[in-house]
Amino acid sequence: MSRAILKVENVDQRFAGLHALKRVNFELIEGEILGIIGPNGAGKSTLFNAIVGTVPPVSGAIHFKGRNIVGMPTHQIAQLGVAKTSQTVQVFDEMTALDNVAVAALLNSATVAAARSAAREELEFWGLEGHADTLAQDLPLAQRSLLELARAMMLHPQVLLVDEVMAGLNEVEVDDILDKLVRINRDRGVSLMVIEHNMRALMKISSQILALDYGAILTLGKPEEVSRHKQVIEAYLGVE
Ligand SMILES: Nc1ncnc2c1ncn2[C@@H]1O[C@H](COP(=O)(O)OP(=O)(O)OP(=O)(O)O)[C@@H](O)[C@H]1O
Ligand SMILES: [Mg+2]
Repeated sequence: MSRAILKVENVDQRFAGLHALKRVNFELIEGEILGIIGPNGAGKSTLFNAIVGTVPPVSGAIHFKGRNIVGMPTHQIAQLGVAKTSQTVQVFDEMTALDNVAVAALLNSATVAAARSAAREELEFWGLEGHADTLAQDLPLAQRSLLELARAMMLHPQVLLVDEVMAGLNEVEVDDILDKLVRINRDRGVSLMVIEHNMRALMKISSQILALDYGAILTLGKPEEVSRHKQVIEAYLGVE
């Protein structure tokens, strides 16, 4: 039987006059890749911020493996196993790729040497081993995106939230990231939620897609169902 690793219940978010999330309810099934779509300003990143606790929701509950994580500090939520990459790549520009990952690896390593060795292995997984000694600021966008994913993996997440990591990448780079996301899902047991404007890419890897619009869930279903959904086509794809 499939079970929910993350359960979002009646989550509301408000910013001044803006109702950014409206009683959002859904489950992330353990082992699945859930794609998230929606127009700009729909509340997608707000939903991720609510889950990882950077901007907790004003009401509602978010259960990770049965435990309500709303109100917990972000580092505790991360320690439990929920990690996120941000929409604008966040790496330490003046540190090397290796050190960027090693810093994150320190959380789960007994010694600095162990952290560096774990970081090297992780860089290899992402195809970044050739850039280990390159300063993050000197990496092209695609590699910076991969670096942020590598850092996030050092937290040993069970759930990873990926926010528009493919924006600005070419088709080859997108396919490479898709391949890596499928591998961390399938081979490393990480359940994923992936925000992406690139529908084609998202449909390739997602078992389900959730469409948000004006802070509310428009629909949640199989990719082929969602892509045929009338309101999704109107709201998101902008087709008559
Ligand atoms: N911390 C905040 N304070 C005030 N308003 C916010 C905050 N975070 C988000 N918002 C507002 O909430 C709404 C939803 O924003 P959000 O960033 O979640 O959209 P999104 O779906 O991720 O859009 P995009 O596709 O452009 O990234 C927007 O109107 C945004 O300005
Ligand atoms: Mg966003």
